Amino acid sequence: MDLPYYEDPGPGTGFEPARATARSNAPALSLNGNWRFRLRPTAADPAPGFDADWENWDEIPVPGHWQLHGHGSPAYTNVRYPFPVDPPHVPDENPTGEYRRAFDLPEHWLWPEQGARTLLRFEGVDSCFRVWLNGELLGHAAGSRLAHEFEVGRLLRPGRNTVAVRVHQWSAGSYLEDQDMWWLSGIFRDVTLLARPRASLDDHFVHAGYEHATGTGVLRVETSTPAVLSVPELGLHRVDPAGPHRVPGIQPWSAEEPRLYDAVLSTPGETVDLRIGFRSIAVEDGLLRVNGRRIVFRGVNRHEWHPEQGRALDRATMLRDVLLMKRHNINAVRTSHYPPHPDFLDLCDQYGLWVIDECDLETHGFEEVGWRGNPTDDPIWQEACLDRIERTVERDKNHPSILLWSLGNESGTGQNLEAMAAWCHTRDPERPVHYEGDWDSPYVDVYSRMYASHEEVEAIGRRAEAPASTPERDAHRRALPFIQCEYAHAMGNGPGGLTEYQDLFERYERLQGGFVWEWIDHGIPRHAPDGTLYHAYGGDFGEPLHDGNFIADGLLFPDRTPSPGLVEYQKVIAPVRITAGRPGTVRIDNRYDFRSLAHLAFTWTVEQEGIPVAHGTLAVPETATGEYAEPALPQLPDTVGESWLTVRAVLAGDQPWAEAGHEVAWGQLPVTGRTPAVPDSTPGPAPARPRRGGTAVALGPGRFDPASGLLLRLGELPVDGPRLDIWRAPTDNDRGGQELAVARAWLAAGLDRMRHRTVAAEPEDGAYVVRTRVAPAATDLALLATYRWSGAEESLRLDLSVETEGDWGGLTLPRLGLRMTVPAVLDQVAWFGLGPGESYRDSRQAARIGRFALDVDALQTPYVMPQENGNRSDARWATFTDTSGHGLRVEGWPGFDFTARRWTAEDLDAARHTTDLKPRDRLYLTLDLAHQGIGSGSCGPAALPQHKLIPADALLTLHFSPERPG
Ligand code: GAL
Repeated sequence: MDLPYYEDPGPGTGFEPARATARSNAPALSLNGNWRFRLRPTAADPAPGFDADWENWDEIPVPGHWQLHGHGSPAYTNVRYPFPVDPPHVPDENPTGEYRRAFDLPEHWLWPEQGARTLLRFEGVDSCFRVWLNGELLGHAAGSRLAHEFEVGRLLRPGRNTVAVRVHQWSAGSYLEDQDMWWLSGIFRDVTLLARPRASLDDHFVHAGYEHATGTGVLRVETSTPAVLSVPELGLHRVDPAGPHRVPGIQPWSAEEPRLYDAVLSTPGETVDLRIGFRSIAVEDGLLRVNGRRIVFRGVNRHEWHPEQGRALDRATMLRDVLLMKRHNINAVRTSHYPPHPDFLDLCDQYGLWVIDECDLETHGFEEVGWRGNPTDDPIWQEACLDRIERTVERDKNHPSILLWSLGNESGTGQNLEAMAAWCHTRDPERPVHYEGDWDSPYVDVYSRMYASHEEVEAIGRRAEAPASTPERDAHRRALPFIQCEYAHAMGNGPGGLTEYQDLFERYERLQGGFVWEWIDHGIPRHAPDGTLYHAYGGDFGEPLHDGNFIADGLLFPDRTPSPGLVEYQKVIAPVRITAGRPGTVRIDNRYDFRSLAHLAFTWTVEQEGIPVAHGTLAVPETATGEYAEPALPQLPDTVGESWLTVRAVLAGDQPWAEAGHEVAWGQLPVTGRTPAVPDSTPGPAPARPRRGGTAVALGPGRFDPASGLLLRLGELPVDGPRLDIWRAPTDNDRGGQELAVARAWLAAGLDRMRHRTVAAEPEDGAYVVRTRVAPAATDLALLATYRWSGAEESLRLDLSVETEGDWGGLTLPRLGLRMTVPAVLDQVAWFGLGPGESYRDSRQAARIGRFALDVDALQTPYVMPQENGNRSDARWATFTDTSGHGLRVEGWPGFDFTARRWTAEDLDAARHTTDLKPRDRLYLTLDLAHQGIGSGSCGPAALPQHKLIPADALLTLHFSPERPG
């Protein structure tokens, strides 16, 4: 049986060769807007031609995905194909969208008689489509995120014309498009009619090299038609584009200083505006160099995502992404896992981001069947594979921001990949080729991996990694620079361990940085019955096969609010490092790849107990990249109590991506330490002794339950607890992807259901001492918690000591601390410690020491899938008050971590969406000595050994006292 066209493993028929995107003055007509639409359940062809009643069909916006406009629903799988692996066939159930629209051709269109052509251009249609103009079939195409153009000049009529498109959700192409994202279909990028005048410029290829030793730019432009080139700023007027034109004194293009030169390429029929960036890329001596210098990628993987529009992004959203990246010190993007909308690349050129442009190719689902039949190794798919990389490179080749071509993602190994790499090397020898999936790296120019552990990355940094499969391949690979094209899986709370990776990237020159997975959570807004908004993920649309919230693993929440992970990344990759210098100085390290510090202004502030007492500016010399300055500090004021000096590097003037004053980096240095370093043994004046009276034990302002020894009241405040508590709602990273997931071990050991036994609760040496044994069921492991309460007139002191009992083996604890409840009205929180955002032991670089105030709701981080969040670290003290300022004050030694929530850790654990969390009538506080680190075990290494919470004997001292206004 002949294959229907949508099962054709080839690239399609009837379209034009790929060519560069151009900003041309030739007439163009956008066909974006409302089209007529209907969805059919199968691909079965209706009668050819046009249905009479199509003008009564529904309307649907183009660009868009039909599943997000009321037809069908989204579905999410990561690796698995949501249809049988039966290439190139697809199921009969193949939702097919029929689109039609009429358009009026402008009066003065260019006709074939004038030697002109007209192209009907589709920037992106998911996944395979057939197209007709005025009833004539033009052809069919696959390659969802690739542009296709059909010549239609001969079919156009003056006035009204009709275009019809049938789009199939599934096609042979779907086997090549198994990216980890929502399956969403339709005409999701622009549709345009382009007039191509006689002697127009079908294609052009700008080569703008930079000789860093001399500062000379070398420009040559290949054109499909004879043309002339002008670059007024460089004194080039109507010159032969082929050049080469050597121009001294060029300002090169870099992500840090994206210098573009405007140019015009003209033929008798057309002018094309160019924005030229001069730069050189080379892999030399085992390093990737741009303009002669080693660079470090501080990157992210970016899928195109808009919570309402899916992958149909508008330019404003693209710009928002670019600005957010720039403002968070990100310097690079991998366009995972397909070429983005072309406008995004213009923005990268303009604002400065290094780009790895990735081909629209992923066959990951074949891994499920042992890679049998993998299209990247089967000759019948070679044409499609080559077509895909050609369409990627040809469309995007003129962007200075693109440093590397990436063949695709997670497509196994195979001859077609090798052929794609060879094609790239021939067509564009100036750009290195990237592909991660073949660890031997025989046909690529950088060694790339994903989620390699710190340990392995370090070995690679030393060029001491395990050998490749043959000595020859090993020799090739060992001489390559290294990047992590994905690392630090930003799913839910995390990633942890970023700073340790960054240290490696800075220590070993071979390690040229990485790209965090990933930029944004692909959540889809939905409403709970009461109208509150939540973000849906896999499984929420009734998909029989899905991968749950693995789709929500970005540094941005779906609405593009930065997550704590992004704020952490911003700090870890800050291009300026501010630390203690020689006595009386501060050390300022320039970690830019190219820029001096001249564009920054430096300020300092001294805070005493978090309150600013002095500030000023700091004169920092220009300081070249890789160098450091040690400016002298001014005379600092005398302070009492704990004081810190904060030095900030801010933009001295406006930059295109942020205004003057935007903070690029900061550092803190201690001025005076905490006093008292260790508290006195009594919590205040007028020491009290425990007294048994009525139903409670009284001690200072405290009232205790004599049976359990738990605190019931503090002054006027009814409280419950504090008592030993170790559970946290596992994070996605705790749950991990592997058997080694820490949460699995915690649950197996019953750490989520500890039982408390009060061994004794009695007065002892003027204190009230409560001894407890806290243990999970079915084991003889235990934590022995002794609460030693001492009191004064106004306050209580708790000395908590914890001893471990039994053999805990390698088991870790989620946290170690206390839980207590207080009245729900005490929801105004202030503290002196690390903040303002949440932090954990391996994700706390972005937290600074200061005095902060937030209400309880603002302390929560709304991860798409609820989990442990909102921890504030190292508080010296915290107050929990009502709006009049009355409530509870807690002070701790050492500094303690805390959370304050309207629900319990168990509620948080049980919730599947943010709207499942219902406020209880108490406030739940945790006051902790320590937490297990976060790591990035949801896809990658768990918390590093030094960030594991190993059960061990521990001590925590807290003072509790009533807080009053003023
Ligand atoms: C990688 C893959 C990404 C994404 C990530 C996990 O293996 O390349 O597309 O699936 O894992 O979120």
